[in-house]
Amino acid sequence: MSNNNKKVICGNILDFVDDPTIAGERAYRYFEKGAMLIEHGKVVKLGYEQDILNGLHSDVKVIRHDAKLIMPGMIDTHIHLPQTEMVGAYGEQLLSWLTEYAFPTEKKFADEEYASHVSNIFLDELLRNGTTTALVFGTVHPQSVNAFFKASQKRNLRMIAGKVMMDRNCPEDLSDCAQSSYDESKALIEKWHNVDRLSYAVTPRFAPTSSPAQLQKCSQLLKEYPDAYLHTHLSENKDECEWVGSLFPDAPDYLGVYEQAELVRKRSVFAHSIHLSERELCCLSDNNAAISHCSTSNLFLGSGLFDLKACEKHNINVGMGTDVGAGTSFSMLQTGNEAYKIQQLQGEKFSAFKGLYLATLGGARALDLEGTIGNFNLGCEADFIVIDFAATDFLEFRLQHAHTLHEKLFAIMMLGDDRCIEHTYIMGNCIYQRDANSPFAAPLSPSLTEA
Ligand code: GUN
Ligand code: ZN
Repeated sequence: MSNNNKKVICGNILDFVDDPTIAGERAYRYFEKGAMLIEHGKVVKLGYEQDILNGLHSDVKVIRHDAKLIMPGMIDTHIHLPQTEMVGAYGEQLLSWLTEYAFPTEKKFADEEYASHVSNIFLDELLRNGTTTALVFGTVHPQSVNAFFKASQKRNLRMIAGKVMMDRNCPEDLSDCAQSSYDESKALIEKWHNVDRLSYAVTPRFAPTSSPAQLQKCSQLLKEYPDAYLHTHLSENKDECEWVGSLFPDAPDYLGVYEQAELVRKRSVFAHSIHLSERELCCLSDNNAAISHCSTSNLFLGSGLFDLKACEKHNINVGMGTDVGAGTSFSMLQTGNEAYKIQQLQGEKFSAFKGLYLATLGGARALDLEGTIGNFNLGCEADFIVIDFAATDFLEFRLQHAHTLHEKLFAIMMLGDDRCIEHTYIMGNCIYQRDANSPFAAPLSPSLTEA
């Protein structure tokens, strides 16, 4: 029998089976000199190298990443495709930042060719940073989502995206209306949802830019397509929260606006969620909704300090998001770095285990994809990354002075970024190799070119 569809990946393997806050040391698995057997792009065996290789048929390909760290691909639970070109725009908080920078940039995505060009840059950057799945805002233009899904499909990526719905409080040429946003979203769902590894997210931008009629249309879409996602913003900035109060005087609070439209449910992901009341926390928890914590964005826009402890207390699913372009890095390592500092400012601990859990299995849980991505459980899709602890001379030196696994992981979360991502694999195939474009790089090894 041919073993062409099988391969073994060897290296030091780390993944998570639970939240370290709940399960402590039992939350992670670490196989020093480990191996993973992959068949048809999925994990079929995980363990120590000697056990996996023992008895293996000699024609199964073995790919070695000795002394490197192999982890599940990172999951970015909130990011904006069109804002790729405006990361790091100076000087504003949320509402004026939107008017001054975000909206003008998003207008360019009326042109599908431009959207396609940026989609490729965006996906290259995600893969370079070890992110293999993302929940993505397009623009109001359906062509932005068509371009993004086409580019993702070509690379066989598991991606979730949606067209922005906004029918008020925005520039006229970025505005749809309740009916057209419904029609356009529905057509995109019909075309892309559950095609290959792609899923659709119904994407009202945030409460201030949607009329009650448009929020009702979102609800209608989710009833028609119950396994589609809901992706929006919630309680990011104090002025925004006040504005929502004046636009929706009958709602009990910000989340109440979404709740009244029946948008708070499993597969609903609310970015930021900083300024929440006890009632809102209970509502998110009771309805199995998820939060995307966007640390670099929250600090960059001066939005506030996310209360992770309160979410843990209420057993709310939390993932991490870069929120590029209010977020300042595509790197989930850097996103963990800033998340650590946000907890420090509140006197709370945030270990590397917690950060890496949130970037992998935590993200999968927030997206209701546990069992599909996020760890190396049997049957999971083999999207994974190879992390190089010695990516620079300084990192190599620093890591020589880190002794325990946690010390090493923490140093990488604080100091690491795209330079540490040596390879990114999708469904068991290498689609990014860090050194491939370097004039100093060795040619791709036959095993990787084949993959
Ligand atoms: N709230 C509504 N739109 C946006 C956006 O584009 N970025 C962020 N960070 N918050 C938002
Ligand atoms: Zn955002």
